[in-house]
Amino acid sequence: MGFICAVNNVNKTYRFKGSDVETRALNDISLSIEEGGFVAIAGPSGSGKTTLLNILGGLDAPTSGSVIVDQTDLAGLNAAEMSEFRLHKIGFIFQAYNLISTLSAYENAEYVSLLQGAPKDRRLFEARQIFKDLGMEAYLKRRPTQLSAGQQQRVAVARAILARPKLILADEPTANLDSRTGSDLIDLMAVMNKTLGLTFIFATHDKMVMEKAHRLILLHDGKITQDIAQ
Ligand SMILES: Nc1ncnc2c1ncn2[C@@H]1O[C@H](COP(=O)(O)OP(=O)(O)O)[C@@H](O)[C@H]1O
Ligand SMILES: [Mg+2]
Repeated sequence: MGFICAVNNVNKTYRFKGSDVETRALNDISLSIEEGGFVAIAGPSGSGKTTLLNILGGLDAPTSGSVIVDQTDLAGLNAAEMSEFRLHKIGFIFQAYNLISTLSAYENAEYVSLLQGAPKDRRLFEARQIFKDLGMEAYLKRRPTQLSAGQQQRVAVARAILARPKLILADEPTANLDSRTGSDLIDLMAVMNKTLGLTFIFATHDKMVMEKAHRLILLHDGKITQDIAQ
C-alpha cells in the first residue's frame, strides 16, 4: 500500500511581528501516512497538531523540510496551483463546522463539488446518497441554524466527502459535540474510510477519537513522541 502523504524533517517556527521571540511549533517532524489510513494526531494544547494539519493541507508552509501529498511536492506549487490542489485533493473538517449560514444543508454539502465543476445531477444524486448514509435525508433543506451541532458537523462531513478528495483532514471535529454525538460521527467516518477507502487524519485531544483511530501519533512540544498502530 502506498503513502498518501509524507513530511520530511519539517520545522515550523512562528515569529510575532516586530518581535525577536520565536515559537517552535514543529521540531524536525518526519512522518508518512498510508493510503486508506484512519489516523489520529494527538497531544496537549499547543503541541503543534493544528500546525501539522495545516501544513499537510497546504494551508500553511513549513519553515524548512518537505511536504509531499499525493506524490506532489507542495513547495513546487504557486498560490493558484495550491488552491487548485486543495480544492481537488483535500477535504477539511473543522471544529466550528464552517458552514455558510445563508445556504441550506444540501447547498453547503455540494458547495465544494460545485466549485470543482461537477455536473449538477451527479452532485444531487451523490448528496442524497451521502445524506442518507449520514442519517440526514430529512434535513437537506434546513439552514445551519436549524440544525443541531452534530447535524451541522455531518453536513461538513458530507461536504468534504462529496468533493471526492484523496485525504480528509479533521481538526478537533468532536470538540463541540457531546460524547455520544461525537462517537457516532467518528463511527460514520470509519464507515466512509472503510467503504470509500478515504484517508482520514484527525487532530484531536479527544480520548474517544484516539481510541477509534487505527494509528495514534502523539505530539509533544512539536515532536513526535509515540507512533502506535492499533
Ligand atoms: N499563527 C501563529 N502565530 C504564532 N504562534 C502560533 C501560531 N499558531 C500557532 N502558534 C503556536 O504554535 C504552537 C503550536 O500551536 P498549534 O499547532 O495550534 O497546537 P495545537 O493545535 O496542538 O493546540 C503553540 O505554541 C502556538 O501558540
Ligand atoms: Mg489545534
